[in-house]
Amino acid sequence: MAELGYSPGLAGVVAGATRISSVGQAGLRYRGYDIAKLAETVCFEEVLHLLVYGELPTRRQLAFLRDTLMEFRRLPRPVVDVLRSIPTDTDLMDVLRTTVSLLGHYDPTHGDTPDDLRRRSIWLTASIASLIAARHRFVNRLEPLDPQPGLAHAEELLFQLHGETPDEQAARLIDLSLILYAEHDFNASTFTARVIASTRSDLVSAIVGAIGALKGPLHGGANERAMEMLAQFHTPDDAAAFITRALERKDKVMGFGHRVYRNGDHRAEILEAALRRHAETAGAAKWMAIYDAIKTPMVTEKGIHPNLDFPCALTYHLLNLPVDLYTPLFVASRVAGWCAHVIEQVEEDKLYRPLSAYVGEPPRPVPPMSAR
Ligand code: COA
Repeated sequence: MAELGYSPGLAGVVAGATRISSVGQAGLRYRGYDIAKLAETVCFEEVLHLLVYGELPTRRQLAFLRDTLMEFRRLPRPVVDVLRSIPTDTDLMDVLRTTVSLLGHYDPTHGDTPDDLRRRSIWLTASIASLIAARHRFVNRLEPLDPQPGLAHAEELLFQLHGETPDEQAARLIDLSLILYAEHDFNASTFTARVIASTRSDLVSAIVGAIGALKGPLHGGANERAMEMLAQFHTPDDAAAFITRALERKDKVMGFGHRVYRNGDHRAEILEAALRRHAETAGAAKWMAIYDAIKTPMVTEKGIHPNLDFPCALTYHLLNLPVDLYTPLFVASRVAGWCAHVIEQVEEDKLYRPLSAYVGEPPRPVPPMSAR
């Protein structure tokens, strides 16, 4: 098949050019800035501005962005009604896919210039956080909360979920996870969004498609599956026994491996360091021992490193977030990268239309009904 120029899963294929991020074993950069430096020094809103507008914001631009996010946080009443009415056992990613689509009918932004799309991106980022929080509260028989002016995006998200101003450490961990998840070049969901945008469809359609792609356990769904795996174990020995069996059976371990990072995911290292510091103060040494009982044999025996989903799963767990929120929180962040890519794709204006290698039946005559 290789002679046909076909690579399964498009592995190793360059499918487009981007100015938004660079992903490689040497490091991850958002618009040229090293992810480790960004994670250390900026907040999610600054990353959102960097991705969508192309540059880090000035102090005034950041204040304006925060005000715009605030302006867009309140959900339209018909959307709230649907959030309330969807059966409570529905997967939150499915709820998000449906309600982002519905939200598109109440878009307060107008026009289709790149600047209009930037403003629509900020509206989507604000609204998606509110959708997640409101749905979480309905499922727990609570009413959604009004947004709280003056909070940073991560704080606001935690406030809208729990109804309390979050402590600094929890807000910082959520902010860090949002920064690290925000953008990752041509991953499956971003590529989906770009393909949709390439037909000159609209931004909301591209984001709805991307949500569907992110849901899968080989992509964004891995953080939930990783926590479901971790939650089975009472001791590090249980975890070690599980991994021995999984490696023998050649099972896929969720939260490990990456198409591009074969020697480790920088984002995972950054979050893992923050997670270890948090676990120490939160009295969660047992959880870190279970985490290491899985990670160590995966790395030393199999040479497969954790990706961001593995430390993220435990981070969210230690912040008392229920598992069904994990992939939606990934959406709350990645929407920034998706929107940036849609805008780039719109500016490029080139339809995606690859070829396929036909491997079916050779040419044959159509048999009459009596001969089938
Ligand atoms: N657990 C166990 N083995 C794994 C593994 C994992 N998570 N990820 C890869 N491998 C093994 C494969 O079994 C395969 O082994 P083999 O050569 O002996 O058959 C080898 O590593 C190559 O894996 P492959 O699935 O071909 O790599 P890929 O580039 O297609 O897959 C992922 C990348 C992300 C789909 C894959 O690593 C995976 O399924 N990970 C779990 C899901 C996950 O965490 N996704 C989030 C990604 S950010």
